Amino acid sequence: MKITITEANKYVDQQITIGCWLANKRSSGKIAFLQLRDGSGFIQGVVVRDDVGEEVFARAKALTQESSLYVTGIVQKDERSPFGYELLVKDIEVIHESVDYPITPKAHGTEFLMDNRHLWLRSKRQHAVMKIRNEIIRATYEFFNKEGFVKVDPPILTGSAPEGTSELFATKYFEEDAYLSQSGQLYMEAAAMALGKVFSFGPTFRAEKSKTRRHLIEFWMIEPEMAFYEFEDNLQVQEQYVSHIVQSVLGNCKLELNTLGRDTSKLEQIKAPFPRISYDDAIKFLHEKGFDDILWGDDFGAPHETAIAESYDKPVFITHYPTSIKPFYMQPDSEREEVVLCADLIAPEGYGEIIGGSQRIHDHALLEARVQEHGLSEEAYKWYLELRKYGSVPHSGFGLGLERTVAWISGVEHVRETIPFPRLLNRLYP
Ligand code: 4AD
Ligand code: MG
Repeated sequence: MKITITEANKYVDQQITIGCWLANKRSSGKIAFLQLRDGSGFIQGVVVRDDVGEEVFARAKALTQESSLYVTGIVQKDERSPFGYELLVKDIEVIHESVDYPITPKAHGTEFLMDNRHLWLRSKRQHAVMKIRNEIIRATYEFFNKEGFVKVDPPILTGSAPEGTSELFATKYFEEDAYLSQSGQLYMEAAAMALGKVFSFGPTFRAEKSKTRRHLIEFWMIEPEMAFYEFEDNLQVQEQYVSHIVQSVLGNCKLELNTLGRDTSKLEQIKAPFPRISYDDAIKFLHEKGFDDILWGDDFGAPHETAIAESYDKPVFITHYPTSIKPFYMQPDSEREEVVLCADLIAPEGYGEIIGGSQRIHDHALLEARVQEHGLSEEAYKWYLELRKYGSVPHSGFGLGLERTVAWISGVEHVRETIPFPRLLNRLYP
């Protein structure tokens, strides 16, 4: 394999050649500093005129931003650089000269950067966010594999709508009506009855007319589902999983967190167990805080979630929501039919809900009644109801929104920076 920048530490005092791009440069009469990036990382290349000679030095000074290069040099330890190493350049070969790269080091407006997302991704900040996203995905597979879960892939084209019918992307499946998946959950329930503990990781789609810093039209969800797990067991999986991904990012993405200026002391504290507050107590708390508008039975908005989360330095579970504001499949509390055995996990620092989960109804008659109440097609849900006819067991699961989790852990304000090519209200380009 070819040597990359992140492996330069293995070649101290040796000469290497790397394929890279010029991110930025500054120069004087005698010396030029090249900020080089190769996708794996960033390194400073130092070009000394008296060392390389006039010709290579002139080439270095003429380099344009984002030109692609082969750079040969000697790796040197450098305490001042955040990366710890720099490259004493010996030779430069230009592969392709980039002309008038639109994203200059000066500040640009958001719409301009979004229009240039295909190029903006190359910036140091976007690179750091994508690396953290990748680490969260890696740690997700690590956690669920270690815990004996099987990865299962639910379909993207579906005939049913688990999270309600108002936000569906409808399409045609030859002659039939079909929808893009909003959640793989119902299929994951079938898979849990076959494989015990399962998890999925895939894209989900919601035609939500929300233009907030937390909403994407296309986002990625991790959806575990566990047979024989009840409400409390479900929360334990969630707090252990979330702790694992936060601690993995802290351990493996120090450079990236530093690039983003993330306050890591806040992340250090994220260890299981997480605090819990019931919906009832959350309503009382909000009234005490002066939110007079919210009544029992209302769903929380972003300001409510933020006010609740501010009381804790870890993510907080809000449990036992009213049955009337949650999807049809949630198991009612046997002592209080008006609430369900569910929990939303709210991230600290105003990042909002990162997980929605619940125990599922396992009684056939009850589920059938709920399907009817919600006006859902019994034909489309026939297979789902059948899961309750052949050895039904209590089971639970949840969905973690990847982009909101990346935003929180990275400390970036808006989810548009947490996915390579965000699909937003009014944005399908690039
Ligand atoms: O709370 P939600 O709607 O739950 C479900 O879909 C369940 N069926 C999951 C399950 O139990 N298997 O969505 C789960 C999470 C939210 O907590 C949030 O993090 C994220 O998905 N999410 C979004 N992220 C970005 N943009 C959107 N429009 C999102 N909608 C939900
Ligand atoms: Mg939710």
